[in-house]
Formats: sequence, C-alpha cells, structure tokens
Amino acid sequence: TRIVFATADGGRHEVEADAGASVMEAAVGAGVPGITADCGGACSCATCHVHVDAQWLERVGAPEEHEAALLEFADNVGPFSRLSCQIQVSDELDGLALSVP
Ligand code: FES
Repeated sequence: TRIVFATADGGRHEVEADAGASVMEAAVGAGVPGITADCGGACSCATCHVHVDAQWLERVGAPEEHEAALLEFADNVGPFSRLSCQIQVSDELDGLALSVP
C-alpha cells in the first residue's frame, strides 16, 4: 500500500506500507520528518498528527473519542486532523495522501 506524505518543509515522501501496520509505523520506518511518535503508537502523545487530504477523509474515517480528545492538544489541528498511529493501513488506502503539519 502506497502512502504519500507531504511534509512541512515542502518535501514529498512516498512510503510502502504493509496492511495491518499503522500509518505512523510506516512513516517512522521511512523516516518521514515531523512524525516523531513519542509514545510509540499508544495514542497518548499526539506527535504523530497528520492532516488527511480531503478526498481521502471519508475512507479514513473520523477519530475515535479518545483520539479526538488528544488532538485538542496538538498544534495546527483542523477538520482533517488524525493521529497517524490510529489509522490502520489497508489495501483500500492505496495512494493515501497526508500532510504533516
Ligand atoms: Fe503517540 Fe500516535 S504515536 S499518539
């Protein structure tokens, strides 16, 4: 599954991710800048914050309650914000486009 990250420095990173992994794991594995994932995917740090491109939002879905609560502490939160450790990679998400705030 291909995931494309646009980073704050204007970079573009195409990452190959395995189904079942989280988008955060794919990003960290590929060294995408701006995703530090300090808590290791436990949904408690918000340093894996991404903005989902508008056309993908429906397929990715809305955050769970706990994730939404944590997002309130992240910077640059918008209507497309998700924590990437809470997005599971699947075949349906091939080509997923995200930006790192
Ligand atoms: Fe910490 Fe996602 S890695 S909240």
